[in-house]
Amino acid sequence: MPRLKLKRFKVKRPAPDVLVHYVRVYPSKDLHHRPGDLPPISPAALFGLERAMVIDLGCGRGEFITAQAQERPGELFVGFEWHDKSIWDAVNRAHAARLDNVRFIRADFRRALVKVPDRSVSEAFMLFPPPITRPNRLKNDPLPEPTLREIHRALLDGAVFTLVTDSPEYFQAKRALIERSGLFADLETSRAFEGGLTRFQRFWEGFDIASQRLACRKA
Ligand SMILES: C[S@@+](CC[C@H](N)C(=O)[O-])C[C@H]1O[C@@H](n2cnc3c(N)ncnc32)[C@H](O)[C@@H]1O
Repeated sequence: MPRLKLKRFKVKRPAPDVLVHYVRVYPSKDLHHRPGDLPPISPAALFGLERAMVIDLGCGRGEFITAQAQERPGELFVGFEWHDKSIWDAVNRAHAARLDNVRFIRADFRRALVKVPDRSVSEAFMLFPPPITRPNRLKNDPLPEPTLREIHRALLDGAVFTLVTDSPEYFQAKRALIERSGLFADLETSRAFEGGLTRFQRFWEGFDIASQRLACRKA
């Protein structure tokens, strides 16, 4: 299946002031060498508000998170993404809709999550992450155990983490990891044609591949 083709698209780079408003950049080398020098990724730092936020890890072109931000104007949304053009597209979408309750973090979310304070997240999503299961590629796995622990730490008690994927193998591997970790309760799983919440969901469901969804609650 042509996964990489989905990254080839034309997008207009947003104006500098629009990028400054919506995007914060967290380079991996800084997160590694001097994480303490970087500002927190918190509702207070991003929005000047003391309220929990919803995070979307690997938000792609931002369709899901901007739609959520539009539907839920009283809540705060943060998309993490490392692909520049996808972030630009997400920013253009947020700016066109005049949204001020969404921001984007340009970073490897596996590293950037350390900057998210404990219990500052009301909901976490990971939608159609690259389904990496081959042993020789595991260093690129978007949801290794340390990342799962960071998500758990950042969530409010009882808050929900949702993973959706097109890949049965990835789904089984991550379901097993989540169960083994003991960090989450009330695991609910489903396999269904959900109707294209995101670009990738539309893509895979267009090939007759149902979405596999796992939702679990911070124990
Ligand atoms: C298959 S796309 C899905 C995008 C979107 N969630 C959707 O459903 O349409 C996966 C996205 O995750 C991003 N991604 C993968 N690993 C990442 C990481 N470690 N940090 C930041 N972004 C990542 C990719 O750049 C890509 O945009």
